[in-house]
Amino acid sequence: MRILGISGSLRSGSFNSSALRTCAELLPDDVEFRSFDRLAQIPLFNEDVRQHDFPDSVEELRREIAEADSVIIATPEYNYSVPGVLKNAIDWASCRPPQPFNEKLVGIIGSSRGILGTARAQYHLRQTFVYLNATVLNRPEVFIMTAHEKFDQDGKLTDEPTREILKDFLMKLLDRTRPSH
Ligand code: FNR
Repeated sequence: MRILGISGSLRSGSFNSSALRTCAELLPDDVEFRSFDRLAQIPLFNEDVRQHDFPDSVEELRREIAEADSVIIATPEYNYSVPGVLKNAIDWASCRPPQPFNEKLVGIIGSSRGILGTARAQYHLRQTFVYLNATVLNRPEVFIMTAHEKFDQDGKLTDEPTREILKDFLMKLLDRTRPSH
């Protein structure tokens, strides 16, 4: 079974990238976890470019999504919504058939310094996935709030209750994940 992780942050000390690394650590050994690390190389979406010079980074993202049995997205929240880099990558990934998120199981998590832990961004992301016909895991919702108190300087998730929520999220995601290849 293969799971793809996508962090919506380009920041080197990103809490969301750290949350994804924690997922990789908590998953059983027989589950392959891959992280998409070329988000910074995805250009701004432009329909003209789409038609004449399809970016290699987007081809790779589309392939990674297609070949994953499920996808975990860790989103920051910027101005009460999904960061532009993440929305841009999803727009690119979806812009030609076969649309890779179609019927794909997607789990959403998010981490921020604020007290709502990216709830508003996550609901916007869920709305996007309605259009893309992904199957989004409804529960548990994972809102890692006041992240600066839950991760240490090395990006390790040290807050035990949050680790338990993540474990529950991963078990429920795995329960629903069906090998597609
Ligand atoms: C933020 N941040 C933020 N946090 C939040 O909880 N709600 C919000 O609406 C916003 N808005 C926002 C806008 C902009 C432009 C920035 C740069 C930041 C704070 C944000 O959650 C925090 O920087 C996180 O640490 C970002 O996630 P990573 O990079 O740690 O994964």
